Amino acid sequence: MANPVLAPLSSAVAFAYGILTMILYFLMSVKNGLFFEKPTKEFQSELDAARTRFWNLSEQVDGLRHQFLTLRDGFKFHYVTNVASVTPDTPSKPLVIFIHGFPDSWVGWRKVISSAQLQDACSIVAVDLPGYGGSDKLQKYTATEVLEKLTEYIIALRERYGFDGPTHDQTSEKVIIVAHDWGCILAMRLAADAPQLADRFILTNGPLVGLVSSNIKRRVSSAVKLMKMFLHSPLQSRSMLGKALHALKPVIRQVALSGYVFSLQLPLPFVRLQGASGDRALVRMIHKMAHGPVGEYTVKDAAESMAGSLGPSAKEGASETADHEKYSENVARQPFSEKFVHMTSYYRHGTSVRRWNKSIETITGLYGLGRGNDLGRRSSRAGVFDEGPKGALKANATVVWGLNDDALDPRLNFDGIGDYLVHNSQVITLPRSGHFTPVEQESVSALQKIVEWAVAGEKDDVDPVVKAVYPGASVTLRT
Ligand SMILES: *[C@@H]1O[C@H](CO)[C@@H](O)[C@H](O)[C@H]1NC(C)=O
Ligand SMILES: *[C@@H]1O[C@H](CO)[C@@H](O)[C@H](O)[C@H]1NC(C)=O
Ligand SMILES: *[C@@H]1O[C@H](CO)[C@@H](O)[C@H](O)[C@H]1NC(C)=O
Repeated sequence: MANPVLAPLSSAVAFAYGILTMILYFLMSVKNGLFFEKPTKEFQSELDAARTRFWNLSEQVDGLRHQFLTLRDGFKFHYVTNVASVTPDTPSKPLVIFIHGFPDSWVGWRKVISSAQLQDACSIVAVDLPGYGGSDKLQKYTATEVLEKLTEYIIALRERYGFDGPTHDQTSEKVIIVAHDWGCILAMRLAADAPQLADRFILTNGPLVGLVSSNIKRRVSSAVKLMKMFLHSPLQSRSMLGKALHALKPVIRQVALSGYVFSLQLPLPFVRLQGASGDRALVRMIHKMAHGPVGEYTVKDAAESMAGSLGPSAKEGASETADHEKYSENVARQPFSEKFVHMTSYYRHGTSVRRWNKSIETITGLYGLGRGNDLGRRSSRAGVFDEGPKGALKANATVVWGLNDDALDPRLNFDGIGDYLVHNSQVITLPRSGHFTPVEQESVSALQKIVEWAVAGEKDDVDPVVKAVYPGASVTLRT
């Protein structure tokens, strides 16, 4: 497909746009004072306290304790959970796995998972993605690398919590995956290509990449047709120009909103610069925006969210879990500019779009899930020839969307979404929330209620359940 003229040209354009965006972000952080702001003593001490609180392996935080899970090749995932250990006598409860986005870690979910009611109702796991928080780093963050790791982790976790495997039997309970932003992109890929991993996926504010790219293609090709008609007879078909621009508007808007994706494609020295400069002004700015308009953004809020991005420091690197496990050596001892390179590699290595080349181990592992209860657990589409469009989800999904998302245009993300969902899925919109639904006060309550609804067996209609805590929320699509 590489066009010898177009390819270098488009990469030059992308480079220029990346540089421009980078400069724009610097200017924004200078303008709002974050760039030259010296960290106050208060912030520094809150930050140290928050890092100890969230990352000291020997301490519990909000009823959650630290654990590790080591994969076959030695890769170590760090996660927090409300369950000390699962034995055959442990009462069976649903397992809910939370997957964060950029630039977070398990800490991004702290407001949702600290709920005593939720902790009572289910086993909670909040994991750090590879390269984030306390989990190990990868050499490459290609789709295959990341999805293989994540799948092996979830399969092992299901076994650890008694869902599969020889010793336990909790097959009457559900496994639920809740995911935001990059976590959502990955979970959507799992729901499309490994739907056996969970009984329901709750997916919030992350693009369904296949749908978005097909909406962009559709709009661009109709704009091109309209432009051709216009150029053919400019006077008679004046209105075609307006129609073409109208079709392109969401695409142009999305490209403008996605400037950061381009600035993160720049050569690594520029990426490090964006991560570290102005005392990590870019990440601090993202967290400040994430907080949303409701309630004051306190020094403690700023320190806690930053502690989530930074992960453990060398100090917490010395701590150990009850099982005497520690963070890998290189995790607690890297400068933030390096960690930032890993966290943003998902944008550079094609994790969202590239092919997932499944290993034999993964195929066998997926095949073995939920045996004995096979028919009831498979999606309604399994075995039917119509597989839906490329990237269509094959597991029950609940898409929860803060409509004021500054990063994702709703028209591109929702037009035609019904074709990508199986029976028993729904789209829930939150009109007053932005991109960071696990952080904003009102959407946190909505997410908690939706998870509780799924955990309790999805008995009632979810619409009034969400509306009770979030007036104006609504189920806009059911399949
Ligand atoms: C989807 O949800 C329905 C109703 O809650 C349930 O019966 C079915 O087993 C679920 N399907 C999958 C694949 O989990
Ligand atoms: C972590 O917690 C343990 C147990 O409370 C304590 O002994 C240790 O000093 C703490 N480590 C750090 C780095 O604060
Ligand atoms: C896919 O993975 C297998 C091993 O897991 C490897 O042998 C094969 O070369 C890979 N194929 C591609 C196209 O990457």
